[in-house]
Amino acid sequence: MSRSYPNTRLRRTRSFGWSRAMVRETVLTPADLIWPLFVTEGNGVEDPVASLPGVSRWSVDGIAARAKEAVKLGIPCIALFPNTRDGLRSDDGAEALNPDNLMCRAIKAVKDVCGDSIGVLTDVALDPYTTHGQDGLVDAAGYVANDDTVAVLVDQAINQAEAGADIIAPSDMMDGRVRAIRMALEMGGYHNIQIMAYAAKYASAFYGPFRDAVRSGDRLVGDKKTYQMDPANADEALAEVALDIAEGADSVMVKPGLAYLDIIWRVKQQFHVPVYAYQVSGEYALIEAGAEAGAGDRDALLMEKLIAFKRAGCSGVLTYHAPVAARLLNG
Ligand code: PBG
Repeated sequence: MSRSYPNTRLRRTRSFGWSRAMVRETVLTPADLIWPLFVTEGNGVEDPVASLPGVSRWSVDGIAARAKEAVKLGIPCIALFPNTRDGLRSDDGAEALNPDNLMCRAIKAVKDVCGDSIGVLTDVALDPYTTHGQDGLVDAAGYVANDDTVAVLVDQAINQAEAGADIIAPSDMMDGRVRAIRMALEMGGYHNIQIMAYAAKYASAFYGPFRDAVRSGDRLVGDKKTYQMDPANADEALAEVALDIAEGADSVMVKPGLAYLDIIWRVKQQFHVPVYAYQVSGEYALIEAGAEAGAGDRDALLMEKLIAFKRAGCSGVLTYHAPVAARLLNG
């Protein structure tokens, strides 16, 4: 029998809350959330990020406290990003390799208090450590040199692994870095450290508040278009994903989030691997500003955007709204 009115009234199952709950096709739980956190120097420091209302940079002790909070809320993973002190930034980003840098101290602090009750995801890229704000080593012509950068990224990843990172997340978009990092992890005996590849990362205007938070924006010379993807391309994103999986990624990321739901969908349909979306800083800021300007109820707006990622096929979402969303989900 064909589906036609009035045999079929699609409104029937929408009549009551209990019934809508029964036919709901996707669910969002705190386990779907990854909470990005900014680390800063000092002790007892909470330093609000002006362009990200509600988001702060925390000193290492505060990061450990946020990790405990995440565990309580049911958030399985946090992502760490350092706001490196000015004197420690250099052309070559060497501070990224310091075993006692801000990142490593934060990783250790979280692992000390939370152990295996939470995953720590760490960003591999040089931008929080370089004076020029680029993700890699810049040659005389101002070009970010691929292979030389990869060699440094491998050392950065191993530095993070030694500090206790659980998931290495290269966000630099150099070619071949996933294979190089995977080989180094295997040789170092880190057989179970995951790689979540920022596989399809676009040269986006939505990263502005993040660059404020790690203070890389003001120093950025030029743009990142020679390594991050052109927002006009989709087939190329599938090629990026294919390579990163072949090179040893356990999961892949699409970034930014909402403007790239088509990419998420295509990646999931084609590769059947865990896909994550990074709902980036500019997306967070727009929701907050929109709610402030009367565009809608902030909690409802943010939850609707988060369920969209699940519907598109995501296994989870990196979002600055993670603690707010988890609280709402936990009632
Ligand atoms: C650094 C990095 C960026 C983000 C995550 N890792 C910025 C950039 O590529 O310039 C952006 C995240 C956000 O905007 O929330 N490689």
